[in-house]
Amino acid sequence: MYEAVIFDLDGVLCSTDEFHYLAWKKLADRLHIPFDRADNRRQRGVSRMESLEILLEKSDVSYSEEQKRELAAEKNAEYVRLLQNLTEADLSDEVRQTLNALRAMGLKLAVGSSSRNTRTILEKIGLGGFFDAVADGNDIRHSKPDPEVFLVAAQRLGLAPSVCLVVEDAQAGIDAANAGGFDSCAIGAAAGYAAAKFSLAAFAELRELVEQAGSGRNGKAAG
Ligand code: G6P
Ligand code: MG
Repeated sequence: MYEAVIFDLDGVLCSTDEFHYLAWKKLADRLHIPFDRADNRRQRGVSRMESLEILLEKSDVSYSEEQKRELAAEKNAEYVRLLQNLTEADLSDEVRQTLNALRAMGLKLAVGSSSRNTRTILEKIGLGGFFDAVADGNDIRHSKPDPEVFLVAAQRLGLAPSVCLVVEDAQAGIDAANAGGFDSCAIGAAAGYAAAKFSLAAFAELRELVEQAGSGRNGKAAG
């Protein structure tokens, strides 16, 4: 029986993962570095600087640490510019209703995201102050697949990892959840990832999964 659900943000609660892709793509194009959606999938869940390293794998140029910081800042400026268009309408009815249903079932709800922009995004989509705990890229030293961000979220909830379900769209996030002793649930880009305990085709299925776990039944198996 779960006492809490910890959600990744980008690609789980809202579609900001697409803004990450567009902002990295713009930088890659300017630097004449090949970059596609498969490269972008590997950036999900990992920190800004680690994401840059993934992009630079295909570069012939080697950049100094200072230049890398500038490139990451350039990407973030474009990403933040794209975030300005976010409104409460970018929180889907499906996600809003499912979050409310889970809360009505007595579950605590938290966010565990590698993004340093987490608070801004939550405010923009109307979820500022909604969650019982938020842990983000500003709170951690090691990003996913390290479990740190989820462990901080669980600690802030006052709960053990074993009673928390983590919902993720990144393989690195599923690995992080598993490494921290959490049950993991894959959705979106991570759906079907074999390491995930559960795999969902739609966010709304979360409600049934949690209900089944509470009633002692097995829930929906991965794959
Ligand atoms: C999330 C995204 C990653 C992103 C990271 C850092 O985990 O899935 O793609 O690199 O956050 O985001 P930030 O907003 O701090 O650059
Ligand atoms: Mg994500």
